[in-house]
Amino acid sequence: MLTVAFTNQKGGVGKTSTVVGIAAALQRQGRRVLCVDLDPQADLTQWLGLDPLADVRNVNDVIYADTRGIASEAIQPSAWGEGIDVIGSTLDLAERETDLSPGSEFRLAKALDGLSGYDAVLIDCPPSIGRLVVLGFVAATHVVVVTEPSAASLRGVENVLRTRDVVAEHYNRRLQLAGIVINHQSRTNESALRVAEVAEAYGADVWEPYVPARAVVAAAMGAAASVADYGADAKAVTEVYDALAQRVLDLRVLEVQA
Ligand SMILES: Nc1ncnc2c1ncn2[C@@H]1O[C@H](COP(=O)(O)OP(=O)(O)O)[C@@H](O)[C@H]1O
Ligand SMILES: [Mg+2]
Repeated sequence: MLTVAFTNQKGGVGKTSTVVGIAAALQRQGRRVLCVDLDPQADLTQWLGLDPLADVRNVNDVIYADTRGIASEAIQPSAWGEGIDVIGSTLDLAERETDLSPGSEFRLAKALDGLSGYDAVLIDCPPSIGRLVVLGFVAATHVVVVTEPSAASLRGVENVLRTRDVVAEHYNRRLQLAGIVINHQSRTNESALRVAEVAEAYGADVWEPYVPARAVVAAAMGAAASVADYGADAKAVTEVYDALAQRVLDLRVLEVQA
């Protein structure tokens, strides 16, 4: 199954916003998507209308269980209706970051094994390159790096790409870099300079169009609503998410021999 991990070592660059924007775009097209929240902050879980404190199976339980296919028991319908399902997160997930028992890198992949019925699985990674991100990368077929046009965020891109290389070499030969999303593009000189830097460094790996900085994104997050609900103000961002969703659907899973 097409499984895309959205990452950057740096927080606040727009990983969660991009996952939610793409999920909503896929839903508008009548597709089915599963969002997996791999961040103990549970922003994705809350944005999609679920309570991280609810007494239901969450991603932490799924990883802890170490049982093939168990992810299906933690899938909840989102509050956004047909087409978006969620495996939610909770603060306890932070405990998995320090679980270094042998083979534990494979637990999320194992839990998601055999899942079907979705056009894509989107994994929202925490702002780190630690154990949780490795769990996500081992379970994924693709990595999308989300970055802001800022120097600190671009350093995060480099670190994520190195982690992808290591995981692909040792744990998951299917893992491909899908692309780099530039979020929060603005009309400042600094933004233009950094966008040029990313384009120069990563060429065709950079996904266009870029996501513009728009206040509606933060407003939608705060209201646990879709950006698309914000009418004319949201049009520019919504169109970009539609285009990025198409790029996700166009990804092909690499066949590798066992
Ligand atoms: N394109 C955008 N325009 C304006 N604000 C944005 C945009 N993308 C994200 N934000 C805001 O920036 C903050 C960080 O975004 P978020 O998606 O939570 O980042 P991350 O998941 O990388 O930590 C949030 O308050 C979010 O609403
Ligand atoms: Mg986030």
